[in-house]
Amino acid sequence: MAILVLSSPLPAQPFVDALRALAPGIPVWSEADDPPAEKVEALLAWRLKPGTVPRYPKLRVLCSVGAGAEKLLVEDVPDHVSVTRVVDPLQAQEIAQYVLACTLRFTRELPLYEQQQSRAEWRRHPVRPASRCRVGLLGLGAVGQAVARAFAPLGYEVSAWVRRGREWPGVQVFSGTDGLHRLLARSDILVCTLPLTADTRGLLDAATLRRLPRGAVLVNVGRGEHLVEADLRLLLDEGHLAGAALDVFAREPPKPEHWIWRHPRVLATPHIAAQASTETVAQQCLDALQRARDGLPQPHAVDRRAGY
Ligand code: GLV
Repeated sequence: MAILVLSSPLPAQPFVDALRALAPGIPVWSEADDPPAEKVEALLAWRLKPGTVPRYPKLRVLCSVGAGAEKLLVEDVPDHVSVTRVVDPLQAQEIAQYVLACTLRFTRELPLYEQQQSRAEWRRHPVRPASRCRVGLLGLGAVGQAVARAFAPLGYEVSAWVRRGREWPGVQVFSGTDGLHRLLARSDILVCTLPLTADTRGLLDAATLRRLPRGAVLVNVGRGEHLVEADLRLLLDEGHLAGAALDVFAREPPKPEHWIWRHPRVLATPHIAAQASTETVAQQCLDALQRARDGLPQPHAVDRRAGY
């Protein structure tokens, strides 16, 4: 039983160290070790190029270092190899903090007050009532639920759009295309926490964003590929959207000349909302490998057909 860490662009060593500390008896390698391919039973990775998996004939499990595992769903992963993702409640909580911080930055007009401060200007504006800060969540998985819980005590109305309808305390839940349109029409703050799948790629395009009320704000903590960046720019420049907070981008990092760095109504952060803790990633990878060896179901399995 041996584990190979292929976490690029994240450094491999912290994962290697954490795995070795938790399971000193298991060989753990990074790519630089040029490990014997026939010994590798688990790969811990962020993304995989086609052609990587077939190099490891004894592979049992493919573990994602992230909550989103879409970059591991390459075509040449054989059916008998389980694909798992990380589920870290602390990561979900930290993403919720990020969403809350970005939302309140806009709803409490902090950029405006920062500009005023730079001019030593003492000028009060009315506080935007909670009734004009309706929050719409795209996705109500582990992250979406943490975001909903974070908003609950603030008096903002929270709705969510989910793939399969279900009850959630304090949240009005919508599903289907009609449900999406209804959610968008009532979202002054739209928060994307969706997994990236064939169905959700490009979902945040001009047609979708135009359904938001005028003056709405987008917060994207899903994946950059959910958003058609040029469409966002159009809607910001038209004044339909008041702002956007983006932690994820189609290309990371965006090129230095990308408009997104300089748009006055965009807050762009370098994919820092939260990462899963290294220890949790390592522990869940070890559990997944043991379960694969024992022929047990994986609690954090990725459904390859659904794409998450
Ligand atoms: C971060 O983006 C993750 O998927 O964990």
